[in-house]
Amino acid sequence: MDDPATMPRAPLGLPLPHDSATLHVTGEALYVDDLPEPPGLLHAVLALSPEAHAEILALDLDPALTLLGDNGLAVTARDIPGINDVGPMSGPEPILADGIVAYVGQPIAAVAAPELARARAAARAVRATYRRREAVLDIPAAMARAQYVCPPHRMTRGDAAAAIAAAPRRLSGTFAIGGQDHFYLEGQVAMALPQEDGGVRILSSTQHPSEVQKMVARVLGLPEAAVTCEVRRMGGGFGGKETQPAIFAAIAALLARRAGRPVKLRLDRDDDMTITGKRHDFHVRWSAGFDTEGRLHGVEMELAARAGHDADLSPAIVDRAMFHALNCYRAPAVSVAGYACRTNTQSNTAFRGFGGPQGMLAAEEMIDAIARDLAIDPIELRRRNLLVPGDATHYGQRIEHMALPRIFDALLDGVGYASRRAEIDAANDGPGFIRRGLGFAPVMFGISFTATAYNQAGALVHLYTDGSVLLNHGGTEMGQGLYRKVAQVVAAELGVPPGRVRLAATSTDKVPNTSATAASSGSDLNGAAAADACRKIRSRLADFAARAHGGAPDEIVFADGHVRGPSWSFDLATLATQAYRARVQLWDSGFYATPRIHYDRARNTGHPFYYYAFGAALCEAAIDILTGESRILRADLLHDVGRSINPAIDLGQVEGGFIQGLGWLTSEELVFDRDGRLRTHSPATYKIPTARDLPPDFRVRLLEGADNPVATIHRSKAVGEPPLMLANAAWLAIKDACAAAAGTRHVRLDAPATPEAILRACGRLPAR
Ligand code: MTE
Ligand code: HPA
Ligand code: MOS
Repeated sequence: MDDPATMPRAPLGLPLPHDSATLHVTGEALYVDDLPEPPGLLHAVLALSPEAHAEILALDLDPALTLLGDNGLAVTARDIPGINDVGPMSGPEPILADGIVAYVGQPIAAVAAPELARARAAARAVRATYRRREAVLDIPAAMARAQYVCPPHRMTRGDAAAAIAAAPRRLSGTFAIGGQDHFYLEGQVAMALPQEDGGVRILSSTQHPSEVQKMVARVLGLPEAAVTCEVRRMGGGFGGKETQPAIFAAIAALLARRAGRPVKLRLDRDDDMTITGKRHDFHVRWSAGFDTEGRLHGVEMELAARAGHDADLSPAIVDRAMFHALNCYRAPAVSVAGYACRTNTQSNTAFRGFGGPQGMLAAEEMIDAIARDLAIDPIELRRRNLLVPGDATHYGQRIEHMALPRIFDALLDGVGYASRRAEIDAANDGPGFIRRGLGFAPVMFGISFTATAYNQAGALVHLYTDGSVLLNHGGTEMGQGLYRKVAQVVAAELGVPPGRVRLAATSTDKVPNTSATAASSGSDLNGAAAADACRKIRSRLADFAARAHGGAPDEIVFADGHVRGPSWSFDLATLATQAYRARVQLWDSGFYATPRIHYDRARNTGHPFYYYAFGAALCEAAIDILTGESRILRADLLHDVGRSINPAIDLGQVEGGFIQGLGWLTSEELVFDRDGRLRTHSPATYKIPTARDLPPDFRVRLLEGADNPVATIHRSKAVGEPPLMLANAAWLAIKDACAAAAGTRHVRLDAPATPEAILRACGRLPAR
């Protein structure tokens, strides 16, 4: 792959700041709620179900309408002219409850008024009478009733039960993994602007503008071509804006349609947390057979997730959990079962890692238990069980490359693992209430949407006659730096400084039929599509320049804002102007579809992932056995991003991903009451990590000299989600400290490792 067209050139590999860094810190970056409000704008507020599961016997809007006055309006499911369904995989998934409510917080009606306060008061005045039904709130209750949002699924390789029975040693366990609220700083928001001729323009904070467009069209009964969705940026998405923005965009569009006026629907934090789905919590059962050296012979795993009241993306999320349920470990016989439990709670959805973190944590829990059982060093045991090239995973993908042995060596070089282990063990044997632990976790995360069709992207690149470039692509910017990275690709392709490339908001009328910006594949897919567009422009310009000025098209070089032939050189603006006058097209579209991937779910064979992203982390934790508090004292992270397009952005993704994972596994706890009401619906009760939770000794590195063995855009690797799973090492470190405190080899520690969970694991609070 040393084709010069794909060889890295400046500005590839430069640590340029995020495209909006200055705007972010000065507060000038515009989010949907910051945009100038159009005349006649109405503000929308939702009325929510107080019941977890009930029939709606009557819905009385009159008190609300009185409050709303002449310029206000209220809508329910009955006012929907099209189809009341925004289900991304299977339907129907209503935007407004129709006859039945299925969780506390489900929108039952929407109101809008010129003043937000009036709309809020009116939403509270919506009255409904209900006939209660039995509510199924959690995983055990749904499992007991075999109540799922899709049929249970199994991935099998060999005879796991027989392999476990015949193995020299056996071990089994069960534990629970908590969910997580996305806590994007910008909540869900949409503005719907009626256009002439029945069309509608939507400004949405969404990772998936094409799906918003499609769902708004479906709900309003319009052709997709009559709906445009535009996204300049999100204040964070983290998976929470892959499907859910469609609900709010469609409600805003419905109100705007009926009012004939623009409508903005911006959820406040409590409503956002009450209404929207989150990361799935899981219950895990595993059983392993292994030999006295700790090598796995057989593994059985059962992964049960709380899907919530609707399917949303749960089938695909449980699949991804199953794909990652052995992380990077080999076992000749495996059986993994997945259950997406239907419960009367929010419809859980994509969240950074998309089920992968839960599956991977299950694998790490199992390996940790085996290491403790055999008293083998957990890093050594992990090394013994690593997949090697030529192995097949439990879903039949042949392993071609395995970076982990190198990553283990590079991470552990100089961290003083053995001496720190000895020092910690000695200190833990002494007096005191502080106990410390070490945890090590590798990450092997499959890159590609597991639904093969989604692995495509488009771009539209305009070169203007002054040599400036406007870049459109189908990806969305949520803080992850995608716009900057794709602009760097374009600048390299056209040989211009990165400042010459201007970024246009993502819009469905520029690049259609896009996939969600998700699965960490934003830069892989959109970068390659944009490069394709640039190569077409470059090739036409080179042909023109060769004809006009001499030389062969393939001798012509685009660099430093200039175009150079064998005996001539022009700045790009001059050549572009000449080409324009000669009627040469200066703009083009580009397309990319990931090669090689395929997966037959029924037969559990194929190659669902184009490649894997790798990393590893070593964490040191301290716990206070009187209060259950914990802290990560030191974290060493090493992550493989291939040949980085932008190492500053990639490093930020590794740091941010780890800290978000740390929140998931330590402080972020979703608490529901017996009636299915989420009690932790604001920052007062739901604790995301803050700057004070950073490990005081935090050492984050990108793997040096890394490459991507497959031909991604400039041999970079996806980075958005995988580093979140490095936080598994922090949870293992806390668990190690709990075991020291309990004085037993193995303890059960449920995630998140809250003070209560830690005290339970230490035997200082009764088990639940
Ligand atoms: N980083 C920031 N700052 N904000 C986000 O919302 N989302 C994550 C990750 N990193 C997110 C983020 C998730 S869930 C994904 S899938 C990827 O970014 C999506 O972007 P990419 O494909 O361009 O990496
Ligand atoms: N990852 C993230 N989002 C998705 C996926 C996936 O694998 N499939 C569908 N949406
Ligand atoms: Mo990310 S969970 O794939 O949006």
